[in-house]
Amino acid sequence: MRSKLVAGNWKMHGSRAAIQNLLASLKAELPAEPGTDVAVFPPSLYVADALVALSGSPVAVGAQNVCDQAAQGAFTGEVSAEMLADVGCRYAIVGHSERRALYGESSAVVAVKVQRCLNAGVVPILCVGETDEEREAGRTLDVVAEQLDAVMQTVAVGELSSLVVAYEPVWAIGTGKTASPEQAQDVHAFIRQRIAGYSEKLAAGVRILYGGSVKAANAAELFSQADIDGGLVGGASLDAQEFSAICRAAE
Ligand code: PGA
Repeated sequence: MRSKLVAGNWKMHGSRAAIQNLLASLKAELPAEPGTDVAVFPPSLYVADALVALSGSPVAVGAQNVCDQAAQGAFTGEVSAEMLADVGCRYAIVGHSERRALYGESSAVVAVKVQRCLNAGVVPILCVGETDEEREAGRTLDVVAEQLDAVMQTVAVGELSSLVVAYEPVWAIGTGKTASPEQAQDVHAFIRQRIAGYSEKLAAGVRILYGGSVKAANAAELFSQADIDGGLVGGASLDAQEFSAICRAAE
């Protein structure tokens, strides 16, 4: 039985004060023992604040990105997976569509980042998903397969047991347009099947999150699909009440 995971991607939002408020509200809203795994992903500058505020709480902290190059070195502006592990980050989001589109991250670079996370003991949340144009052209499964295969062909299957995949159709991110539970389930089932081509054991255990305009109002229906194991939540994770309601929907 796969346990569900709800991950809140705060992107580049907030300030020190706003994030302290959000963390305090989250602690107040979430039960002491949520029936699901919960993690938040603050901007990297505020990760340390979040780790302090959430210490002793079941809410884990992760990073929104990780360096592809090395554990240490002359890589101005970057943060390594080893550094994330060092401060206590359990997860890192890898290959978010905003990074692929705006910062030119190729599937090959994303695959290396997944490997770097695994080497450091950080759980990678690998984001995959098609644009509106790609869906219209009937290319959804090809795009997702390419993004997934890049990782499966770079990292040894035996190292991937902690991998989390997030299916995030780009047209649903921040647009208020959610994939229907059936649309999402179809792609999630495809992802699991594709992974089964490499390892059936991995496919059975891998958690596949849905992301793209998840809200309290649509979370329960999405999370009830056979191959949806939780959510990667952007906008709605900035509201503690809404995010807690989404976590409850995953229980
Ligand atoms: P959204 O973002 O929930 O605001 O659509 C999801 C994401 O980008 O992870």
